[in-house]
Parts: sequence; C-alpha cells; structure tokens
Amino acid sequence: MSYFLGVDIGTSGTKTILINEKGRILAEASASYRLFHPKPMWSEQNPDDWWKATVKTIRAVVAKADKPKESIKAIGLSGQMHGSVFLDKEDKVIRPALLWNDQRTAAECEEIELRAGGRRRLINMVANPALTGFTAPKILWLRNNEPRNFEKVAKVLLPKDDVRRRLTGGYATEVSDASGMLLLDVKKRKWSKTLLNKLDLDESLLGEVFESEDVTGNLTKGAAKTLGLTTDCVVVGGAGDCAANAVGTGVVKSGILSTSIGTSGVMFVHSDEVQVDPQGRLHTFCHAVRGKWHMMGVNLCAGGSLQWFAETLCKELGDKVYDVLNREAARATPGSEGLFFLPYLAGERTPHADPDARGCFVGLTLAHQRGQIARAIMEGVTYSMRDSLEIIQGMNVPVKQVRVSGGGSRSKLWRQLQADVFGTKAVTINAEQGPAYGVALLAAVGAGAYKNIQQACSATIRETSATPVDRKTKRVYDARFPTYQNLYQSLKGDFKSISAIES
Ligand code: XUL
Repeated sequence: MSYFLGVDIGTSGTKTILINEKGRILAEASASYRLFHPKPMWSEQNPDDWWKATVKTIRAVVAKADKPKESIKAIGLSGQMHGSVFLDKEDKVIRPALLWNDQRTAAECEEIELRAGGRRRLINMVANPALTGFTAPKILWLRNNEPRNFEKVAKVLLPKDDVRRRLTGGYATEVSDASGMLLLDVKKRKWSKTLLNKLDLDESLLGEVFESEDVTGNLTKGAAKTLGLTTDCVVVGGAGDCAANAVGTGVVKSGILSTSIGTSGVMFVHSDEVQVDPQGRLHTFCHAVRGKWHMMGVNLCAGGSLQWFAETLCKELGDKVYDVLNREAARATPGSEGLFFLPYLAGERTPHADPDARGCFVGLTLAHQRGQIARAIMEGVTYSMRDSLEIIQGMNVPVKQVRVSGGGSRSKLWRQLQADVFGTKAVTINAEQGPAYGVALLAAVGAGAYKNIQQACSATIRETSATPVDRKTKRVYDARFPTYQNLYQSLKGDFKSISAIES
C-alpha cells in the first residue's frame, strides 16, 4: 500500500492528513499560529510559523499512522492564496508576508491598471482586474514603500510555495495559486511576460509554473530527515486553497458549485473554458484540473466574522463558545428581528472590490440579545455569498448542485441558512478536510495511484447528506436580501470617509 500526505497552510493554522490509495484518511493533525494586524486593514504572518506547523503536523501524522516511511510516496500542498513571501538571495525571509486579506495596496492597484493601459487591457492579459489582496500589488507596495527591502528581493513566493522550497529546495508554483498573483496569463497557463514588462518586474523573481498534479521535486535529504520520510517522496504542485477545496469536494466538472465558509467565504464553479466576468467581480483562475479553469467569488471575512465575535465579545464562553452561539442563534427567528450585519470587517472583494468597506450592524434595538446578533452575523455572511451566486448565475453558468464545506458548514444552522438564502438544497460529502483532502488526492495522482484527478475524485468522494430548503424561511430571506444589498450602497460613501479619517 502507498500513502499520501495533504498539507493545507491556512490562515488560522495548518492541517495535515495522511490518506491511503483508497482515499481513506488514516491520521490528521493541526497546528495554529498567529495573525498580525500592525495597522487597521493590514494583515501579516510569519513564513517561519508556516514551516514549523508543517513540520510539526507531518511528523504527528506520520507517527500516528505508523507506516513504513518508504510507503509515503507523495505530498500535496495547499495554502491560503495571494500571500507574498519576500526572499533575499540567500533565501532569508525579508519581512513578514502580506496576506490575502490585507488592504494596504489600493494605490498600487491603480498603478497596475495605469501601467497595463487600463482595466480592460489588464483583464485581457491576466483575466482579472487588480484587487488589493492579490500578489502583484503587494510587490509594487514593497517597491514604493520599503525600497530598501525591495532591493534585497530575489524571489517572491506564495505561502505554500515557500513551504515547498523548504521541502524540495526548488522555486516552483502551480497554475491555480499562480493565477492569484495577477502575473499569470490565465488562458495560456504561463507567466505573462507582457504584464511583467509593463510592471518592470523580472520573471526571475517567480517560481517555475507546473500543473497541480505534476511532480515539482523530491524531498531534500535535510527535509526527509526532519520529517521522518525518504528522499524518494515527491512533492506535487498542489493548489491554492480554493481550488484544493474544490478538488477535495469533487468539484472537477461543470454543474456543481462549492461553497466554503472558512476564514474567507468562497463560491466556486468549474469551467471547461476561460470565462471572464467583464466587470471583474468574479475571479477567473486556472483550476487544479489539468487544462481547466474556474470562477469564484470571495468574501474576505466569513467564518472570520463569527470568529471575531466569539473571540472579542464572547470570551467568557470559553471552549464552548461556538456551541453556545449556534444554539442561541438557532433559537432566534429568521431575519434576526430586523438586525442586519455587513461582513466587511476586512474590506470586501466580491462583489464590491472595496478596501474601505467596514463591518457593521444595522437595525440594533434594545430587544436584541446575543443569539440574534450571532444569527445576524451568519445571515449577513450568507447574504454576501448569495451576491456571488447571483453573479455566477447571471453569467449563465449551470449550477445543478450546491456542495457546502469548510468549518462554518459543520454548523447545522449554517447549512440550513445556506439552503434557505441560496434557495437550493445544501449537499455535504464524505470528505470533511476539503483543501488538505484535495491535495492529498493530487499527490496520489502525481504518484500514479490514479489516472487523473477526475478519476481520483469519483473513486473517493460521495454525497452524505442534503439539507432541503425551508420554503417559509426562504421567503423571509428573499424579502430581506434587497435591504442587505442596499445597505452597502447607502454606506459606501461613509466607509470612504471613515477610512480617510483613520489614515
Ligand atoms: C481566495 C482568497 C482566500 C484565501 C483564504 O482568493 O483570498 O480564500 O485563499 O485562505
């Protein structure tokens, strides 16, 4: 028997699993690390923490599974997308990485559009507009704001690709995560020399681009020793966490939409062709399926909103906090008695692409208790995901089934809210470790256990439950959704003023 590791380097922590050839999970481990906000709307992490968590969790699952080390054949890496690891020529990390939910690069986004010859030309080159969370604006921010650091930069790697460097000694990435750097010609699945030239950036800054299931290198002697594995163990391309989650939930063909509520909220559809939202609200990226693409809408603070509430305002509930909040929220009436929550605590991507947007509660009264507030948060996040769903449906993308995943979807209430707000049943599948599972399957494909990722998914993934729509509650949400949408329109000018006052 051969075994495969899937490692997901997320924002709140790293999760690692070990699967066998049949896709059964034999062991799992996770380790968390800190997130830093040195200024409002800035978000950073320390790449050394990702490495330490990767080592700790791989060692833990290898020990738990207790299999001969030669039988662990391949590793797949998944990770939070868009983050910038700046390395000098000795591979030293120059400064903390700027993350996907960092909003400091509005000026650089304008600069990129200008250098590209306008938004339409930029979308022609890389299939997407410049958004503050993407990687290219982060590189320009370093050049504009920390020129001494920029002079030292020899490589810019994505979070999981810096972990790969420490595993294999090579600089490599793969198409799905590379798409989110805003430097990839998404159609051709190669770096865009045209845009790199216009931005005055050298291609040598970037890693080599692979397909997600391809082998990018073997473990170095040092890494093999540290992890208790052998140098025959290979590392495949893997995927950015959104594409990895799609693979891990079997979204490798048209017709299924996957929703994920982690720190971020993602609405993801597979596409056989490159399809671009002319208004640039959805991202069009390469899929982790060879020669295929995907579109997605991203909410920057989905599970992150409830986590903020739990950790900041409900500390007294201790370890039971999520159980209590779910129980109290389930008892509150749909619509939370007129309370609306806009989940823009970290600005927003889809549909507003607004780094100045802020979180808010609108409609608070003396009657509101903790349960209604928790429910309003969950409802607001789900409305924001419906915004993405409506754009996807507006582009005539077929959606026959909605598969829900991510930590948030483990909540029965949040599954029901998704069914009622989206108006479609919410299907769950047997594999709960979305991104880690997806890249473990990619590792199995890379090591030859399956012909391709579609075959791996159909052999291992099956539906386990379906939450039907409650028609009465759906009507309540349908009636409230336009008010939710109007609130952003009414407040966006004030968000700009608040942001200006703060800076
Ligand atoms: C996707 C995105 C987030 C992060 C979170 O574009 O920014 O989903 O990948 O991990």
